[in-house]
Amino acid sequence: MTGCDGYIGSRLAPRLLSEGHDVVGIDAGFYRSGWLYEPGTAHPKVRSLDVRELRPADLMGFDAVVHLAELSNDPLGQLDPDLTERVNHRGSVGLAKLARDAGVSRFVYASSCSVYGAGTGDWKDETSPTDPRTAYAHCKVAVERDVRQLMDERFAPVFLRNATAYGPSPRMRFDIVLNNLAGLAWTRREIALSSDGSPWRPLVHVEDIASAVVQVLKADRQAVAGETFNVGSDEQNFQVREIAHAVSEAFPGCRLTVGPSNGDDRSYRVRFEKITRHLPEFRCAWTIERGAAELRSLFERIGLTSEQFLGRHHTRLLQLRHLLETGQVGPDLFWTAAHSA
Ligand SMILES: NC(=O)c1ccc[n+]([C@@H]2O[C@H](COP(=O)([O-])OP(=O)(O)OC[C@H]3O[C@@H](n4cnc5c(N)ncnc54)[C@H](O)[C@@H]3O)[C@@H](O)[C@H]2O)c1
Repeated sequence: MTGCDGYIGSRLAPRLLSEGHDVVGIDAGFYRSGWLYEPGTAHPKVRSLDVRELRPADLMGFDAVVHLAELSNDPLGQLDPDLTERVNHRGSVGLAKLARDAGVSRFVYASSCSVYGAGTGDWKDETSPTDPRTAYAHCKVAVERDVRQLMDERFAPVFLRNATAYGPSPRMRFDIVLNNLAGLAWTRREIALSSDGSPWRPLVHVEDIASAVVQVLKADRQAVAGETFNVGSDEQNFQVREIAHAVSEAFPGCRLTVGPSNGDDRSYRVRFEKITRHLPEFRCAWTIERGAAELRSLFERIGLTSEQFLGRHHTRLLQLRHLLETGQVGPDLFWTAAHSA
């Protein structure tokens, strides 16, 4: 499992262990300093490696690769689109080739609903044309395209287009919408939307993403090989103001204000029926109301501070900028000699 020390990986790894899988993690460790709480669950052995450094021998003997390790959001991609291309597109395709050549039979790729880009509130399913608007989303489309071509009678890639995740993770991210709003509600007791919050966003709890991966690993080859699945549920397409409302309700005393329309109503809603057809045991167990309440309990328990919420440890762009500016990583995001593990 690559990206095992990230936001999703830190929830997915213990889940795979509890399902009886033998897991080895690979992670470059960009966000390892950002540990929000002790989860009390087992974590697999992690090799501190960049996926771009892997050699064929590193992939020998594995049944499956679950690939999460990329620069993980739109603003990061805009920081340096060419870097995103090298890490996300070329890095992921290179990894898939190594996996295929090593005889790995299943390759689960963490894609994103952001491949659908912008719309006018219309519904998208896996057959809809993609319309990537950012370097990050362009790379997701390119990886899906190139890795699908590697499929053969043994190597079965599967593409999970995850909705935007929410919920606690020891390697928390506060740069994704619901987690961010929850952090604001806790630290400021106020959510002030600068616009009217009309765009639609599909959301999914991080544990439900883990459930999708579990089901993909269990499924018969013909149910998943070469398939693309949106991961989420139809009921969890929300306008941003609805998300803000649900979060403010979960944090007593939180004030919610909504700004004027900025005329930017580009958005899309996503259908999630296909995954339940191919993987009948998959369903989303979480709602945003429960997810927001779960975050409130966590923040209470650990006494989340503004410094933790706003600091670089839980905002991917800030941490990568810090690593670059302090010379801990070079321009290609490889650790420099003084800082390598
Ligand atoms: N979180 C979401 O809302 C969401 C939604 C859709 C898709 N995804 C995708 O899921 C995956 C995981 O997302 P996340 O939120 O856990 O992100 P994250 O940034 O928290 O975790 C990514 C992990 O990968 C590692 N990594 C990055 N580049 C690497 C490389 N070249 N070699 C080795 N390790 C590397 C990082 O150190 C980090 O631990 C990403 O591919 C992301 O695009 C996430």
